[in-house]
Amino acid sequence: MTERDPAWMPQTAAESVVEFHDVSLRYEAYGVRGDTPTGDEDDYILKNLNFTLPAGSFHFLVGASGAGKTSLMRMIYLAQKPSLGDLSLFGARVRPNDRAQTAALRRRIGIVFQEFRLLEHMNVFDNAALPLFVQGHSVKKNADDVTELLAWVGLKHRLSAMPHVLSGGEKQRLAIARAVVTRPTLILADEPTGNIDHNMGLRIMRLFVELNRLGATVLIATHDEGLVRASGMPVLELKDGSITRRDKLPARRNSGDRGGGGGGGGDKSGGARE
Ligand SMILES: Nc1ncnc2c1ncn2[C@@H]1O[C@H](COP(=O)(O)OP(=O)(O)O)[C@@H](O)[C@H]1O
Ligand SMILES: [Mg+2]
Repeated sequence: MTERDPAWMPQTAAESVVEFHDVSLRYEAYGVRGDTPTGDEDDYILKNLNFTLPAGSFHFLVGASGAGKTSLMRMIYLAQKPSLGDLSLFGARVRPNDRAQTAALRRRIGIVFQEFRLLEHMNVFDNAALPLFVQGHSVKKNADDVTELLAWVGLKHRLSAMPHVLSGGEKQRLAIARAVVTRPTLILADEPTGNIDHNMGLRIMRLFVELNRLGATVLIATHDEGLVRASGMPVLELKDGSITRRDKLPARRNSGDRGGGGGGGGDKSGGARE
């Protein structure tokens, strides 16, 4: 490596976009029982996770509330350091204390936060364009692209609306537009259908599938198993601190969970995408 090609430079040809190597996570406060700090295995909410997200893959991250989905996403977004183990992003080993590396890697990640985090004093267009501005791109030059993106998520008629007048679904779609406006290689979405009805959920899922089709690697945390089943997409399941990958969630027999029939979850769809 030369000086102009530092070790943190994202490798474009990386076959895995995310790699976890024996990653465990324990929150400090969580490890304290009474006044005795403990180091028990039980204190780890995530234990020895090993998995990869191949470039161009689409996965749901499922698990009960409190299973650690948000924590895992925060580690990928480099907002939370693993207690043990390490991870690689875009083929580069993450160095948690290297701020330049963190900034460079984050630029390639688009994240939809569970609680949206829209800026209330900015209108829809400006919220969506903000990451371009933050990353030093001209908003003016990219205005047509931003407008097109907002039209794509169904907000063309809302460009100058302020966030507080938007419905839950509109806020959700704005948060998605903002997450993808810089064309990130990796898209993380934390419960992106948590605040909206089933049909809007299906529509939002189609947006993510389309982004994946355009080349992005996608990871979506959700506890909505109906949506996951309807999609027929592969799943990473968190349970008791461990992670298991499945090609898709097995179909449920009871008729109350038909899931809207949108996603073409044919029997062979699971592993056959790449
Ligand atoms: N900052 C924190 N400090 C201490 N404990 C936390 C923190 N964030 C989450 N936890 C705990 O870690 C566990 C996993 O939480 P979380 O990752 O939010 O799960 P999920 O997103 O699957 O609901 C929960 O028991 C939660 O209370
Ligand atoms: Mg969560």
